Amino acid sequence: MPGQTLHSAPAAVAPGLPPLTPAQLRYGILPKPTLEWTPEVERATAHLYEKVRTVIPAVEWPFFAPYVKAINELKAQRGAVILAHNYQTPEIFHCVADVVGDSLQLARLATKTDADIIVQCGVHFMAETSKLLNPGKTVLIPDSRAGCSLAASITGADVRLLKQRYPGVPVVTYVNSSADVKAETDICCTSSNAVKVVESLGVDRVIFLPDEYLGKYVATQTKVKLILWKGHCEVHERFTGAELRAYRDAEPGIQIIAHPECPPDVLAEADFTGSTAHMIDWVKTRQPKRVVMVTECSMADNVAAEAPNVEFVRPCNLCPHMKRITLPKILDSLLNMREEVLIDPAIAERARLPIERMIALAA
Ligand code: 13P
Ligand code: SF4
Repeated sequence: MPGQTLHSAPAAVAPGLPPLTPAQLRYGILPKPTLEWTPEVERATAHLYEKVRTVIPAVEWPFFAPYVKAINELKAQRGAVILAHNYQTPEIFHCVADVVGDSLQLARLATKTDADIIVQCGVHFMAETSKLLNPGKTVLIPDSRAGCSLAASITGADVRLLKQRYPGVPVVTYVNSSADVKAETDICCTSSNAVKVVESLGVDRVIFLPDEYLGKYVATQTKVKLILWKGHCEVHERFTGAELRAYRDAEPGIQIIAHPECPPDVLAEADFTGSTAHMIDWVKTRQPKRVVMVTECSMADNVAAEAPNVEFVRPCNLCPHMKRITLPKILDSLLNMREEVLIDPAIAERARLPIERMIALAA
């Protein structure tokens, strides 16, 4: 039966092979389970399919279910935890993740897990953040090419030049950035706490990196002056105010909610602006009849699965980086313990501090 060999560990995992030791089970390469749609797989995953049946057609479930079962078994066997961002697809978000959330929630929860192995289903900066906060743990990302246009827009050397140009002005950096950039930073922020972080410094001017549009949004909420960088999210910069006005003209009662990485003309059309977690809370609390979610489109699927009374309009902009993470790659990650996130200890030492300052502020 598929997956059964995994259940039987630590006895032999395949006929004729010697039993695995606890260390091999935890860190060694394991044999690939059979991935077939069988009555046993159907039974074992039925409760998970219930969670996603409104967003995953029944005809597609036989392709996902064998992976879901194998991943959940292997995760338990490895003693691993799966952290997934709100933009992960529903079969990951609802069926294999242990912890889900926005960037701030994931960073905070990464510090609370007892597991020795963290599998980060999200983009590379998120896995780096987990590693910075858990230097002694093994942090895996199923595809290390899962980048972010914001993180790619700036280097540590750029930040050093900015600090020379504006001596003494503190640097606030969005977590969507590399460890190199964080190492040059005073305090990090996410989209859910950026205003609070900027104001926490008690100064009248900060360098705010690298998201220009998030910075422009923060500037509308505080008296602190922000020196901005021209980094943009390649997903959110594609939305336009005209597109949203067209939705509103067609249906005046419709609700529009947007992520602060969107350009200012888009946010001007929104009824609510917030981080991915704040957008989800808004929908669950308000239960609008129809809502336009102006963000990466998998998130609407994830919320739709839990909010059956809300109709979602999904202008579909996918994040190509988030979409690199798939069930087969998560399984591969757990079987072969790859790809491990490693950070130069000298950089990690400095990059950890601004994240810890942010988390301390959130607490
Ligand atoms: P959140 O922190 O709001 O989840 O945003 C992360 C992100 O990458 C949005 O594009
Ligand atoms: Fe980066 Fe934008 Fe993708 Fe978020 S949605 S990970 S900001 S490219």
